[in-house]
Amino acid sequence: MISPNSIDQLLNAAIIEDVVGDYVNLKRSGSRFKGNCPFHDEKTPSFTVTPTLGIYKCFGCQKGGNSIQFLMEIENLSFTESARLLAKRYSVDLVETNVGNKEEYEESQKLREGVQSINDFAIQFFADQLHTQEEGKNIALPYYRERGFTLETIKKWQLGYSPESWDAFYKAASKAGYKDEMLKSAGLIKQRDSDGSAYDLFRNRVIFPLIAVSGKVVGFAGRIMGKVENAPKYVNSPETELYKKSDFLFALYQAKNSIKKLDKVLLTEGYTDVITLHQSGIENAVASSGTALTPGQIKLIKRFTNNVTVIYDGDAAGIKASLRGIDLLLADDINVRVVPLPEGEDPDSYCKKLGPDGFKDYIQSVEKNFIFFKAELLLQFAQNDPIQKSEAIKDILQSVAFIKDTLKRTTLVKELERICDVKEEVLAQELGKLLRIGLVQDKKQLFADTKNVVNLFIDEPVVVALSDVHQEIAMIRTLLMNATKQFDENQTIFDFALTEYMADESIQFKDPFASKFMNELIKPDGTFEWPGVEYFIHHTDTEISSFVAGVFSNDHQLSPAFLDNMIYVKTEEDNYRDELISIFLNIRRTKIEEIILSEQFKLQQPEEQHDEILEYLDFLNTVKIDIANKLGNVVSRF
Ligand code: GTP
Ligand code: MN
Repeated sequence: MISPNSIDQLLNAAIIEDVVGDYVNLKRSGSRFKGNCPFHDEKTPSFTVTPTLGIYKCFGCQKGGNSIQFLMEIENLSFTESARLLAKRYSVDLVETNVGNKEEYEESQKLREGVQSINDFAIQFFADQLHTQEEGKNIALPYYRERGFTLETIKKWQLGYSPESWDAFYKAASKAGYKDEMLKSAGLIKQRDSDGSAYDLFRNRVIFPLIAVSGKVVGFAGRIMGKVENAPKYVNSPETELYKKSDFLFALYQAKNSIKKLDKVLLTEGYTDVITLHQSGIENAVASSGTALTPGQIKLIKRFTNNVTVIYDGDAAGIKASLRGIDLLLADDINVRVVPLPEGEDPDSYCKKLGPDGFKDYIQSVEKNFIFFKAELLLQFAQNDPIQKSEAIKDILQSVAFIKDTLKRTTLVKELERICDVKEEVLAQELGKLLRIGLVQDKKQLFADTKNVVNLFIDEPVVVALSDVHQEIAMIRTLLMNATKQFDENQTIFDFALTEYMADESIQFKDPFASKFMNELIKPDGTFEWPGVEYFIHHTDTEISSFVAGVFSNDHQLSPAFLDNMIYVKTEEDNYRDELISIFLNIRRTKIEEIILSEQFKLQQPEEQHDEILEYLDFLNTVKIDIANKLGNVVSRF
């Protein structure tokens, strides 16, 4: 554990607008900063940073906290990892107190650090091979030059070369003290099946380092020089502790400032495309590395901009195949534009052909809304075949249905009337059908969080309350008794409870006193902090102090009314964690029951969409069963 003093010191040193500014385009607004929330979809900024308090807060999705929490959330780090990262950046020495049984964590930390250290060694090794060794200078440097890369570009991207040897890297790394096990974990050596001996992953290839958005080198890509015959054109590092292919975008680190400034990213396929574009002064380009976009990559993009221009290599079949992936961008409320290239060209070759200014002009002049691009392309494929044409239109509307903004959709449909030569009303009606199917999906989303709680490990369900109010009071009692105890290694009972409470609108408290109590815990800026039991007991608002006193008393001496309404199982001193999970599960079960009743009621109305309701009910039932299983066979009535 890091000592609380160190954490205070760290949070005082960290500059929240810098920490957040790496991921969010912040604009000053009085004494605060505003921007688009990186944690949820939005078009108007509801994400604020308050430097004087060192906090961020999104009034849309309610996420908020300090610099450590921000990094935890956005980089998926544990509390300690995030604190360490910040400490390094702001040169704060963290004092560790009783480390405890964090063996597993230490183990993975060690592995990560080991792989990082090897990658740092390797990037230098490959660069040295290129710049200081005869083989590199004679073979690889001319290759880069022939491709038009300047020396400045080669240095900027830290390009390198792996010599034509089975074990040049392995030998150098071993000599430097790196163990085989670690080299294998870094993916840079492989083992022969026959005798277990080691050999290099990259041999006789030019090397493109893969740099994460944090600036760290997480892996490498090696391109074969000359003609590609029996070997693959590129060899990539395998997934490691540091490199997850689906969460990586090539050049995002180098492009992020330009993307923020221009509020737009150019998405290409290849490493060389990006490097050439940057060299030509077009620095907001990144590459998806030849695969369909993943949700992880989209999340990365959204930290910097909502405007994506996809530059396709010029071959129609390939374009058609990759259309589907773009729908993911639309669903994320990203404005997608498309720039097609002439047959046989890629951004690298075409930029060289037109020159930097010519290429910029080209993008400007042919860039068009993705939906129109797709429409024209599919209709061209369908030609005059009426069946194919109606299939194509369905496909187009399918994409339109992904867009959440009603106004945008309406405008698009108007325009599509002309492109598809189909009446606007007909298109709108068809779109309506698709949207209703989507609606059911959205409703399901409400319970996505429930699934998280359901997945939590629980030894034994503890409290089963009959009504919401009793569940609410049970939770407050747990808070009063155990707020500062650890829920798990990263959070206290209080932190867990408040995060859950705020994450899900469906669990707003019904009892006026309980809800007043909860409001005391949440500051106006949306952050929360446990003020201690005395705070409530000594509260000047007697409604609060007496309510709390009442809850406390309940614990010792259950009132007859309480006993009537609540099957009280047990509250052992050390069972507070399970108790808390049980309470949340119960609160959600009650909520689901309510929704099921209201949906069932809808089934009696002839004008409702019965098939959708049935599908939704089906889903609600599975969640309900999950929760019931989790709570075990403890009986509860509502
Ligand atoms: P050049 O041919 O050198 O211009 O490279 P390129 O980057 O333009 O390659 P291409 O357009 O053929 O492919 C686009 C991207 O797909 C590449 O940058 C790689 O990320 C990926 N890719 C292409 N071929 C391979 C391969 O054989 N293996 C792997 N793992 N990735 C590849
Ligand atoms: Mn290319």
